[in-house]
This record gives sequence, C-alpha cells and structure tokens, in this order.
Amino acid sequence: MENLIKQTATAKLSLDGKNIDLPVYSGSLGAPAIDVRGLYKTSGHFTFDPGYTSTCSTESQITFIDGGKGQLLYRGYPIEQLAEKSTFLEVSYLLIHGELPNKKQNTEFTNTITQHTMLHDQIESFFHGFRRDAHPMAMMCGTVGALSGFYHDDTHTTVDDARNVAMHRLIAKIPTIAARAYKYSIGQPHVFPDNSLNYAENFLNMCFSVPAAPYHVSPTISRAMDKIFILHADHEQNASTSTVRLAGSSGANPYACIAAGIACLWGPSHGGANEACLNMLREIGSVDRIPEFIARAKDKNDPFRLMGFGHRVYKNFDPRSRVMQKVAHEVLDELGIRNPVLDVAKELEKIALEDEYFIEKKLYPNVDFYSGIVLSALGFPTSMFTVLFALARTVGWISQWNEMLEDPSQRIGRPRQLYTGPTQRDFVPMEER
Ligand code: SDX
Repeated sequence: MENLIKQTATAKLSLDGKNIDLPVYSGSLGAPAIDVRGLYKTSGHFTFDPGYTSTCSTESQITFIDGGKGQLLYRGYPIEQLAEKSTFLEVSYLLIHGELPNKKQNTEFTNTITQHTMLHDQIESFFHGFRRDAHPMAMMCGTVGALSGFYHDDTHTTVDDARNVAMHRLIAKIPTIAARAYKYSIGQPHVFPDNSLNYAENFLNMCFSVPAAPYHVSPTISRAMDKIFILHADHEQNASTSTVRLAGSSGANPYACIAAGIACLWGPSHGGANEACLNMLREIGSVDRIPEFIARAKDKNDPFRLMGFGHRVYKNFDPRSRVMQKVAHEVLDELGIRNPVLDVAKELEKIALEDEYFIEKKLYPNVDFYSGIVLSALGFPTSMFTVLFALARTVGWISQWNEMLEDPSQRIGRPRQLYTGPTQRDFVPMEER
C-alpha cells in the first residue's frame, strides 16, 4: 500500500500562549483530517474522542461511505452495482487486490478458494467440545481462533506469501466452519464441502442438505445468498474491523485477529443487531402494536432501541438496506412465503421515517433491518444471523488487516486516556481500613 494522503492546508491551534500548526490532509473522497500525531510532543495535550466519532484511525483505500448521500463504495464501485452485477468471490478479489479480476485472475482465485474449503479432520473434535445449545457465534470465535494451532506455516504476517495463504484459507474455510456450527447446534451430521458448487451454493448445501435426501438449491436462493454476502463484506473502520486492525498491529496471527473481529461483531449494537431486530419484529407481532414500540424507542428512561435503525455514519439511508429489502421480496416471492413480519417491518419503517424523533436524529433502517427477514425465509434460525454476517465480513477484515500490514506508516495501536482516578496515595494497612 502506498500512502496517498496529501497536505492541503494547515490548522492553527492557539494553546497556553503557543500557536501550534497542525497539517491538514485530504484524501480522494470524504472529510479532510487534521494530523494530531505531533500534538502531545508540541503541546503536552492529548485529543479526547471516546467512540472515535471524529477520529481517523488510519488511511485506507478499500471502502468509502458517504453517510449524507447514503453511498457505499468498495474500491470505488457502488454497492448497488456490485450486488446486482458481481459475485461475492469477485468482490473478495476486488477488496483484497484493489481491482476487479479479469477472467484468468477470477478463475485462479476461485479455484484457490475452492481447494481450501475442507477443515483439518481434528477440528471435528472441537465442535464436540461445545454443548449442543452453545450459540453458533461461540463456536465461530473458538474454532477460528484455534485455526492458528493447525496452520503454523501462514502465521508469519511479515511474509507476503504466508499472508496470502492465510487469507485464502480464511475465505475458504469460514463457510465450512459456519455450516458446521449450524449442523452441530441442530444435531445433524455435518456435510462436507462440494467443490462442484459455487461459494453460496456450497454454503447452503453444507447447511441444508442431509444424507437421507437429495438437495437442490434454487439459483434465485443461491444468488440471494451471494448478494447478502456482498452487502456485508466490508464497511470502513467499524468496531469489528477496528478490533481486527488493533489486534493485527501487534503482529498477532491472522486467525487470532479474525476471531477477535468475530467476538466484537457479536455485540447487539453491531453485528448482533440482525438477530435482535428480527426478535423485536416478532415481539411487535402486528402493525397495531408499532406505536407502542416507537414510543418506547423515544423514551429516554427506556433502554429499548429500535434494532436495525440508526448508524454512526449513515445519516441518510443505508444503501444496503434498500438492496436487502429487494432481496427480501425476491426470496419471499420465490419461496411463496407470506411473512407478516415483513409487513410489520415495512409499516414500522414507514411510521418511523415520518416521526419527528427519527427525522431529527437522522435514524434510518440499516443493513440489519431487513436481513433477518431474508435469512429467516432462507431457513436460518436467528442464532445464525450474526454468523452469516461474520462469514461475509471475514473478507473485509482480512483485506483491512492486510492493508494495515502493507502500510509503511503502520505502528502498534496504543490509545492514550484522560485519567480522572485517584492521585498517588500510600498503602493503608488492613488494621487501619
Ligand atoms: C452495524 O459501524 C458500522 O459500519 C457497523 C455496520 C457494519 O456494516 O459494520 O454498519 C453494522 O453495526 C449496523 C448498526 C446495527 N445496530 C443497530 O441496529 C442497533 C440499534 N442502533 C443503535 O444502537 C445505534 O444507532 C448505533 C449503535 C448503530 C449507532 O450508535 P451511535 O452512532 O453511537 O449513536 P448514538 O447511540 O449516540 O445515538 C444518537 C441518538 C441518541 O439519542 P440522544 O442521546 O442524542 O438523545 O440517537 C438515538 C440515541 O438514543 N438512537 C436511537 C437509536 N439509535 C440511536 N434511538 C432509538 N432507536 C435507535 N435504534
């Protein structure tokens, strides 16, 4: 990765009688940034930004979001076009390498991924160590982290070839692990990967086929699954991606870094929102109960939030949510399902978008609002929703991890703090406390 930031202005800070010049950098898109790296040295002051609402943690050339326009670009390509015209593996190549693959590159990349889909046979015993009712995300965290115990040859992050092998292994094996966790949780025998199937078909086959009967996945359904993976692939420096980058900045091996990302994504404010959103829509149950839940979401004394609504960056619509709504209709029509929850979701969206509170706080449906309805229609239990998010986001995490390791300005991440605890005091013996 070549650093492409350029200084385009200078910010002047007047502090304690000193005038401090701070470089202002511009990228190719988005807000300019004030470089505060030298601030502590020149002023003895830190910046304070819990939650990083105004802080760039890195330069990146992978994904760009314009929250005001509802725009999401993967290496410059709009998410709507990629979801419509591309495939998840093609998008994976784009995220990692920066360009859409030509036919030869796409064939080679697809074959490489296909050859890595199987798990080491001893990983089998990992699953049998979990309780049957363990959340599949617990199995994902544990199993992905343990992969570093099986693949010592590609944990040397400073070696390009080792990093490439690790990235290919993770993209290839994450569906196998996800499907394995699902089968284990429902007490069915696991299904091996089938290299004659494409990425989405193979995943659906590993999840839903059983030895007792033939299984055929419809092209509409596998195409919908592939689109869902594309929509979830990457999203700038969100919480889980920042977790992966921070873990990777210490030189931790790629499997440990991705396991850290999975753990972070699991939170209900992040990737866990799709599971929470569908549970909320089911709890609402009918259109006439929507006002009750809208009122609760607006009540400061009620911790309830409208799951699937709001976003740190999107202050207009989340483009992924619009594509996901279309996918919901395609899947439900293909399967001939009349899902009343979809009616509740559409009415809830309509009412919320006309409500002053949501308008004032710029709260719109995000990627998680419709995804649960689609995933449920595809046959997944809510406990698998965040697993599918993690499956797709793995390619975003490894692309960002790889970019960080190739960044010549990369250093170990080590934020500072504003300390408000006790000043120094002497130890008090037990008899005097
Ligand atoms: C993802 O970062 C990413 O890119 C993440 C993601 C990705 O692809 O990686 O896009 C995936 O995580 C999508 C978000 C999924 N989470 C949810 O749907 C959970 C519900 N949403 C919220 O918890 C919240 O909107 C967040 C966490 C998404 C964003 O939180 P912020 O940016 O810190 O916003 P905030 O909590 O400061 O809220 C601002 C105001 C608050 O009111 P005030 O204190 O200003 O009076 O809006 C209110 C909040 O109370 N608010 C909501 C709300 N979300 C924010 N009120 C009701 N319902 C909500 N959903």
